[in-house]
Amino acid sequence: MNLKPKQTISVWMQGDSIHVHCELTQDVDAEVCVVGAGIAGMTSAYLLLKEGRTVIVVDDGPIGGGQTERTTAHITNALDDRYTEIERWHGSEGARLAAESHTAAIDRIEEIINLEKIDCDFERLDGYLFNSIGESPSLLEQELQAARRAGLLHVESILHCPLTGFDTGPCLRFPNQAQFHPRKYLLGLATAILRMGGRIFTETHVAKVESGTPARIRTEKGFTVTSEAVIVATNSPFNDLVTIHTKQAPYSTYVLAFGVPRGQVTRALYWDTENPYHYVRLQAIPSDVSASALFGNPLTEELLIVGGEDHKTGQADDAEARYDRLETWARARFPVNERRRFHWSGQVLETIDGLAFIGHNPLDGPNVFIATGDSGQGMTHGTIAGILLTDLIVGRSNPWTQLYDPARKTLLASDRFLKENLNVAAQYGSWVTGGDVESAESIAPGTGAVVRRGLTKVAAYRDEHGQLHECSAVCPHLGCIVRWNHNESTWDCPCHGSRFDKKGHLLCGPANTNLIQSSGLPDASVEFKAVSV
Ligand SMILES: Cc1cc2nc3c(=O)[nH]c(=O)nc-3n(C[C@H](O)[C@H](O)[C@H](O)COP(=O)(O)OP(=O)(O)OC[C@H]3O[C@@H](n4cnc5c(N)ncnc54)[C@H](O)[C@@H]3O)c2cc1C
Ligand code: FES
Repeated sequence: MNLKPKQTISVWMQGDSIHVHCELTQDVDAEVCVVGAGIAGMTSAYLLLKEGRTVIVVDDGPIGGGQTERTTAHITNALDDRYTEIERWHGSEGARLAAESHTAAIDRIEEIINLEKIDCDFERLDGYLFNSIGESPSLLEQELQAARRAGLLHVESILHCPLTGFDTGPCLRFPNQAQFHPRKYLLGLATAILRMGGRIFTETHVAKVESGTPARIRTEKGFTVTSEAVIVATNSPFNDLVTIHTKQAPYSTYVLAFGVPRGQVTRALYWDTENPYHYVRLQAIPSDVSASALFGNPLTEELLIVGGEDHKTGQADDAEARYDRLETWARARFPVNERRRFHWSGQVLETIDGLAFIGHNPLDGPNVFIATGDSGQGMTHGTIAGILLTDLIVGRSNPWTQLYDPARKTLLASDRFLKENLNVAAQYGSWVTGGDVESAESIAPGTGAVVRRGLTKVAAYRDEHGQLHECSAVCPHLGCIVRWNHNESTWDCPCHGSRFDKKGHLLCGPANTNLIQSSGLPDASVEFKAVSV
């Protein structure tokens, strides 16, 4: 399980991985155990240490090796699902608390950076939301009013974004947003965590979380961390089988980065209102990088980062067409005169009501907490998780508790709940269809396909040397059939977003084990018992 093989490479993934401690090789204890060293887990660990708690962080990859190194790190209180919808789902007080908490998260990130002197390219800048072609102008007007009702009184409508060569038309300006280099930020948090006596164990897969007094986490290699409280910040919680996964859905999203002449694009965050929407920012090229062929010349260029083209994970396998559309979109609007420097994809978890699930894990013991459902805003939601979970664990009341409660039922979002769950139910239809190919013989080297084998299905990958590697195509989470992703060379589950490398090793949950290797392929009837959504 250990080191996760890389698929596409993001701008932030240059240089060595952040490893601080190595694998956990003995039983240990602390007041709090945090599983997952992405922004949510690392912020939680940092803030708990500041409160004087003893903390252990455990991750099965390097620090930040999950979605945090695939982000574009817009740090914003301009909510992706928009305030008009947040207000409809959560009421006016809920929208106000959402705006307050995301604003507080931006401030907290800045505070931590200043306090810990983290050199991570942090920058305050404006964010602009502009209409996609053909969109009604009233959409922005309604969003402006909803944002102001939520307390963002400085959001304003202006005639167009500050761009030359592309007239966006009227747009909303969200002042005082931010951006940073996410890996450098996590490195700064790691340094501070270690300084305060926190322990971080990488390359350590957690197999099980047991609530109780004390709680225990069991690692794959058989070691135990004993603690008073556990935070599972694994992006998608593996310790919740069903409840949370019916209320959030995994979406794959795509990003390109191009060199653009320095200073030609106003430094800001940009989003449009298309569905799925595009997101844009700039990043200075570090002056100390040796890989200038990749990054470009820091004196004359900077990177324009453009993302979008989202689809439900495992339900499309046309990444190249998506990158092409993204490139066409970018070239039509920005001074892009060269080939792509970087392209990568990753996954966001969209909740049915637009806000993350942060708090006590439903149906679990009182000392087991989760942070999930980033809704495309994991920088702020991950930071809110750190603030809120710290308060819950030290016993301090927090006004955001109910808003982010993982057990909440948002009745006004029941249409989204129904739509996502009907979509999941439809994926189980793959059990009765044929394979992608008639037989594994026809799979070309370097690629994979699902093959029907009697009552079950096999995920077959042929390596570059022609050798075939087979495992069960049945996702160990709740029994959906995985699909081959040509772009990333992964097996992706179309139900709740578990992903596996080409040979079936787990990359991300909610599954928590590998695909079963071919020698141990199960009887199909056994797998059907697991299908319960
Ligand atoms: C392309 C893209 C663009 C994005 N853009 C933005 C943006 O502009 N702004 C924004 O706010 N958000 C954005 N997001 C979302 C944001 O990046 C994520 O929500 C955020 O990074 C998630 O952080 P996390 O700490 O929850 O999870 P992760 O960073 O995924 O960390 C989870 C960690 O848990 C570990 N783990 C998992 N299972 C186990 C286990 N069983 N045992 C031990 N360890 C385990 C993993 O190895 C991983 O390191 C974007 C995401 C993508 C993919
Ligand atoms: S992720 Fe739930 S069945 Fe695969």
